[in-house]
Amino acid sequence: MRPLIIDTDTGSDDAVALVLAAASGLADVRAVTTVAGNVPLETGTRNALISLETAGRPDIPVHAGCPRPMTRALSSAQHVHGQDGMGDIGLPDPVTVPRGAHAVDVLLSLPRRLPGELTLVTLAPLTNIAAALLRDPALLTRFRHVYCMAGAADMAGNVSPTAEFNVWADPEAARVLTQAATPDKVTWIGWDVSRRDAVMTPADQRRLEEIGTPLASFAHRINRTVADWARDVTGLAGYDLPDPVAMAVALKPDLVTEQEEAHVDIALDGLTRGQMVIDRRRTAPPPNLTLVRRVHEAGFKRLLFDTVAAPLPRL
Ligand code: BDR
Ligand code: CA
Repeated sequence: MRPLIIDTDTGSDDAVALVLAAASGLADVRAVTTVAGNVPLETGTRNALISLETAGRPDIPVHAGCPRPMTRALSSAQHVHGQDGMGDIGLPDPVTVPRGAHAVDVLLSLPRRLPGELTLVTLAPLTNIAAALLRDPALLTRFRHVYCMAGAADMAGNVSPTAEFNVWADPEAARVLTQAATPDKVTWIGWDVSRRDAVMTPADQRRLEEIGTPLASFAHRINRTVADWARDVTGLAGYDLPDPVAMAVALKPDLVTEQEEAHVDIALDGLTRGQMVIDRRRTAPPPNLTLVRRVHEAGFKRLLFDTVAAPLPRL
């Protein structure tokens, strides 16, 4: 099983990604770190605890991290994910509590203890990772690999015409990462991938309801406001699962059907704030990221449905 650290701003699709990691049997989740993003830090930390408890893994430690982006105020996405980030369905408070150590300290210490073994999966603005990188510039080399739900390689965004939320929310942090990254260590799975290959169609949503296990029902109900937003505001039949598909790639890299290496920089301000700028010139600097472009849709959905249908892990 792959040892993982997961960095998350837990809203509804992060929660599904946490369920995949905790309950699929494909990962050994060593820590979950939280950061401000879709929802304020305290709310996201609460949601991470609830998600792990629901997945039968209340033992996985959760560590709270940075309460705001590096240089900007937080712009959350509660109009999409619900005020509580989990579809406002009235989930009860978690029984567990976050651990004492700060997320950034955990991101620094765990890979030092297990050099080259841990995979880091980021599902959120990159603030915690950038803060850790500023303290340990060699941090990325200490991981086996880093997978990030970040960016939009086709430059069609979800939060602005050209930017994806996680990069847009803290573009300075994203830039700290891209400037330290190499394509053998860092893979981005962007919004474009989830729009193409990880859309929960109405039929998929019905299937979750029909499976009817506590995990399937959780995954379905917490995405209620996202489904409404997709239908009523964006006019799409079905909603995306960007964090779950990024997690699926980390758990099963053979789900990737198309990827490229490229040199990417991040625009910081104005209309293009948070845009990934891909340098396609012949004279471009060497690639710094691997960009996943397509994922095997049926394989991703099979992993999702099988995981939520299975009995909860036994501790
Ligand atoms: C990202 O923002 C949120 O909508 C999701 O959790 C994902 O991490 C997509 O832009
Ligand atoms: Ca997220």
